[in-house]
Amino acid sequence: MDLSPSPEFTAQANGTAQMYDDAAADHEGFWAAQARERISWASDFDTTLDWSEAPFAKWFVGGTLNVAYNCVDRHVEAGNGDRVAIHFEGEGGDTRTITYADLQKEVAKAANALTSLGVEKGDRVAVYMPMIPETVVTMLACARLGAPHSVIFGGFSAEALRTRIDDAEAKVVVTTDGQFRRGKPAPLKAAVDAALDVGSDDGPVKSVLVVRRTEGDVDWTEGRDVWWHDVVDDQPDTHEAQPMDSEHPLFILYTSGTTGKPKGIFHTSGGYLTQAAYTNAVVHDVHPETDVYWCTADVGWVTGHSYIVYGPLANGATQVLYEGTPDTPHQGRWWEIIEKYGVSVFYTAPTAIRACMKWGADIPQKFDLSSVRVLGSVGEPINPEAWLWYRKHIGNDTAPIVDTWWQTETGAIMISPLPGVTTLEPGSAQKPIPGISAEILDDDGNPFTEPEKVGYLVLTKPWPSMLRGIWGDPERYKETYWSRFGEKYYFAGDGAKYDGSGNIWLLGRVDDVMNVSGHRLSTAEIESALVSHPSVAEAAVVGATDEQTGQAVCAFVILRGDAEDHGEDTVQELRNHVAQQIGPIAKPRQIMVVPELPKTRSGKIMRRLLRDVAENREVGDVTTLADSSVMNLIQDGMAKDS
Ligand code: WT7
Repeated sequence: MDLSPSPEFTAQANGTAQMYDDAAADHEGFWAAQARERISWASDFDTTLDWSEAPFAKWFVGGTLNVAYNCVDRHVEAGNGDRVAIHFEGEGGDTRTITYADLQKEVAKAANALTSLGVEKGDRVAVYMPMIPETVVTMLACARLGAPHSVIFGGFSAEALRTRIDDAEAKVVVTTDGQFRRGKPAPLKAAVDAALDVGSDDGPVKSVLVVRRTEGDVDWTEGRDVWWHDVVDDQPDTHEAQPMDSEHPLFILYTSGTTGKPKGIFHTSGGYLTQAAYTNAVVHDVHPETDVYWCTADVGWVTGHSYIVYGPLANGATQVLYEGTPDTPHQGRWWEIIEKYGVSVFYTAPTAIRACMKWGADIPQKFDLSSVRVLGSVGEPINPEAWLWYRKHIGNDTAPIVDTWWQTETGAIMISPLPGVTTLEPGSAQKPIPGISAEILDDDGNPFTEPEKVGYLVLTKPWPSMLRGIWGDPERYKETYWSRFGEKYYFAGDGAKYDGSGNIWLLGRVDDVMNVSGHRLSTAEIESALVSHPSVAEAAVVGATDEQTGQAVCAFVILRGDAEDHGEDTVQELRNHVAQQIGPIAKPRQIMVVPELPKTRSGKIMRRLLRDVAENREVGDVTTLADSSVMNLIQDGMAKDS
């Protein structure tokens, strides 16, 4: 199979081979050029990168810009107000077409409304919403005011919501009455009520702004709760955007780390927007005049931030925003949407592709997918089998697939082929894009290039959309990312290797972070949710390989002496407890009640052995266990259960 780019694709591609040379010759000069070419600055920057307080970076120092102006107003000013920004497709089939001119008015009204609720520059706004246009409008309204948003994925529980609202001290929460999920309305505001209904009245949240989406019943707290249609609809539809410093915080997004406490990753304005726009142009190859782009991620994750909201809108692209699941009301829904809108650039996750493979190739074959010309993948390694299926059945056997490696922390794509430039290698993210530098280190921190040797992925130069820290915890930022191999290297937490052609293959996390369907979950966070249940004395969680979801959560628990084991009922109760503490996405696939956990003499749980059990493998070396008979006890218990 020839996977080199076609001359026709190359001729029109935004990315070029020259960019690699330009960036290698002058790293800062390259990024300064991207920033000036792609972003409208209210005042130009004087210093491209200030790394004097490393690892705390400042990019495009002295520059000022308004991110929302860049994503909306300037396109209207350039005469593109009639261009569609968002083709909204509700799960139930309701649709809305929003042009850039419409979006400008909506964002202005929402910015005026937030101002009327007391939101000022620097205040944080929590956003707990489904995939509807108001969510995008809210994020842009926050950006317009310089009020960092903290979007919390709608699948998180009230408990998870509360800790995130508190950590960021959000002044306002924006939510909806409910959301449509698999054909049914499900409440959403109720979780906000539960999150705010603990402790005292002097919490940070002053107002809850509620969009009506499902018309479901909601409880109402007078003086705190306000309807969107009451406070937004009648606002003036103009709003003067104030320029912000390039380093003004744009958003906080919580992600799981190796401890039980989620990290508030925060990003700033100029550098983030530059790299989001640049990558959407050169990696997705979006041509705003002709393409219809669609990223299926939820805005609650970083992919939605960078590749639904900021990147494509900064570029003035036309995109699809879809509210629902891929199989509602039928398993061809995504392909139906591609046909309906003529989607040409499509970005999704390997777990979704594997689900579609399982449903069968005859489903996409019923639809006209001839508009598709670029495909993207993100969230976890894409196995070559899924890659080939994706190319053949969705990509007309011709569309380049960009396997994009990046993280919440990196803000934007870092390692990926460039369509039209790179000869593709199924299953590999291949190499750092122009402007990004990565290496693979051995256990001693030495870079190597031998093929097939496994090491740790590090980034070796600061990049514009890098996280600026962990909200409220600068020490944890240094320690997590810049200490494992010294202060020269950003430690990504991923294992990696090269192949014989110098392509990078990502091999999954090397820390106690799991990747379930492209969602990042921490073993420690789920363990602490489990031990918060009155029946649980101890818990250990591992990510076991799963054909569909990449990894699956498997838990081992020791019950308290006074707790009775009711078999399947106990397991169900514990699973539900995790869903309630964190969210349904964190529910363990399996919970095994065991008499003991395997520990080293220093008391550290040996997850490697538990993974062997969870993956039905013969258990590996047990010599470092404090008590090597423990594994026999666990396995005897398993044998009895099955
Ligand atoms: C982790 C970051 C990037 C947005 C979605 C996830 C894994 C991500 C790939 C890929 C192999 C990947 C890594 C990374 N990952 N993309 N193309 N190939 N692994 O963002 O929740 O911050 O998770 O996802 O393990 O560290 P996130």
